[in-house]
Amino acid sequence: MAATTALFNQVPQGERGDLNVNGKQYQSIWFDEILDTVNIIDQTRLPHKFETPVLEDLDAACHAIESMQVRGAPLIGVVAAYGMYLALRENPQQVARALQRLSATRPTAVNLRWALERVATALEGVAVEMRATAALAAARELEREDIAVCERIGEHGATLLSELWESKSDKSAALNILTHCNAGALATVDWGTALSVIYKTVARGIPVHVWVDETRPRNQGAALTCWELAQHAVKHTLIVDNAGGHLMQQGLVDCCIVGSDRTTITGDVCNKIGTYLKALAAYDNNIPFFVALPVSSIDFSLSDGIREIPIEQRAADEVSHFSGIDEKGELQTLRMTPEDVCISNFGFDVTPARLVTRLITEQGVCRANRLEVSQLAH
Ligand code: MRU
Repeated sequence: MAATTALFNQVPQGERGDLNVNGKQYQSIWFDEILDTVNIIDQTRLPHKFETPVLEDLDAACHAIESMQVRGAPLIGVVAAYGMYLALRENPQQVARALQRLSATRPTAVNLRWALERVATALEGVAVEMRATAALAAARELEREDIAVCERIGEHGATLLSELWESKSDKSAALNILTHCNAGALATVDWGTALSVIYKTVARGIPVHVWVDETRPRNQGAALTCWELAQHAVKHTLIVDNAGGHLMQQGLVDCCIVGSDRTTITGDVCNKIGTYLKALAAYDNNIPFFVALPVSSIDFSLSDGIREIPIEQRAADEVSHFSGIDEKGELQTLRMTPEDVCISNFGFDVTPARLVTRLITEQGVCRANRLEVSQLAH
């Protein structure tokens, strides 16, 4: 299904889409047919610089995922698929090596493995000289599918949020939604998952205000979600990661919506570190906790998220250092800890199914339990 009004797109301003940067609309990854190039938005430079480097080869695709120039579960799957094209364009004999290298870039999001399996299947029985063409076709299909899937997630979620808005007795204020990390267009090809729900809810005329967790240590909330929501003119307020519980106790949060990097068949959800604490606080305050995800983020082979999902551990300098711009507009990185401090940097945590009110997928809204998750077609 084709997206009708994508958030990012390389189409003239005003035709469709909402995110406009320097007079152009974008996807977070796109293929240029004329130049035969794979292009990304470098998310390590946002919100200060908007740069769109070309991925030249397999090394560049691996580096983009590892360094988080691109991030977010659905997007890294699509980047990996394009990485296969770039690898086979260089050398069509390196199928196994490229699959192995790309799948090792990040361990937690299952979409990476899922997308690579799709490309591997598309390559079965293909003549050596046609491998790059077949990989490109598979990557482009995954890209198109991701846009359509995310748009459908948004529509299903907006119906849920419309019901929540209708049930709210005091309509003098907006619907207050708390989100963690960036599960927006930047984390997918377009639209996003959690943020797609928000964009579609806003499009239905419901007044929305978003509490954005800064999301230490990479600050995807502060840097990316705030930037994205501003491009889309959605009202939002940045908060420190520990503020959510207090806001919930004060009646200032109507629901939470987050994305997922991997969801088990039993409905356990693995997402950016800190998600679990938000779910606990939401549960304690009787606030709905929604998780928006494509079915490609479900690992139907797992039943116990806490024991079975591999949690990525990242470099210590993500915690000890922070980056920003100085008064001259120059990007700077500063250390804020003693030099020899011992650091642990787990990238994700698991929210048990019992804390999840509903899962929102492209196939509709369901409960986070084995009975309902196993019915999702995959
Ligand atoms: O480490 P990141 O930035 O790749 O983590 C991203 C998240 O945790 C997102 O919430 C998740 O991938 C869902 S994105 C649609």
